[in-house]
Amino acid sequence: MKSRTERAYDIWAHDYDNHPNPHILLEHDDVLKLVSPKRSDEILDAGCGTGKYALEFSNKGAEVTGIDFSDKMLEIAGKKCPGVKFYKDDLQKKLSFRNGKFNKINCAQTLKHVRKLNFTIKEFHRVLKKGGILVFSVTHPDMDWNGYETKSHGNFILGENSDIYHHKFKDYLFAVDNAGFKIDTIKQLPINKKIELLLTPKSYRIVKGRFEIIIFRLNKT
Ligand SMILES: C[S@@+](CC[C@H](N)C(=O)[O-])C[C@H]1O[C@@H](n2cnc3c(N)ncnc32)[C@H](O)[C@@H]1O
Repeated sequence: MKSRTERAYDIWAHDYDNHPNPHILLEHDDVLKLVSPKRSDEILDAGCGTGKYALEFSNKGAEVTGIDFSDKMLEIAGKKCPGVKFYKDDLQKKLSFRNGKFNKINCAQTLKHVRKLNFTIKEFHRVLKKGGILVFSVTHPDMDWNGYETKSHGNFILGENSDIYHHKFKDYLFAVDNAGFKIDTIKQLPINKKIELLLTPKSYRIVKGRFEIIIFRLNKT
């Protein structure tokens, strides 16, 4: 049986690319820079959604595999990125890849749906080669939502339709360390001009400068 979150993304999929999402817009350039996709890379995009990053990695010549548990998200991703292999996989279960298959993993805005953070980060460590890197982005655990108001939500409100786990900063640090990763970079992204037009003018004046996103870049040594 499908989980609530899986069903939520199945419903959201057809509209997901139609409404710019502040998290995704704010973090995009930094995620791309931190993954830094190259021709020689074998990259796993975990929680690939409609395949936005997978396509960009593939356009840089990397060999890309995308996984997600929403059939509908995967359907859209598959049409968008013919050069990428997409599979249905659940990040809360053992991944269906051998040890050390990838040299990079990207996991953007997905770990909020994962309850057993330690398990999932360990699985990422297992399927990475030695010397590989994991980049993951999440909503900043200390994000202050007071006064935060977008102009439009599209027709879908994720928080009401899916399971979201509010992991703390220390939970991420523990999971990363427990899995055996070494921290390369932790980047905090403040609300800035990139998303100004997605927020109401009043809200932007109140919330600009607050950290909305945190990105981790980790090494498997
Ligand atoms: C907010 S979207 C992010 C999609 C994409 N990474 C992006 O940046 O546009 C989260 C994605 O994670 C997927 N997802 C959530 N929980 C998952 C799980 N346990 N296993 C696999 N995919 C999951 C959802 O189906 C959805 O496509």
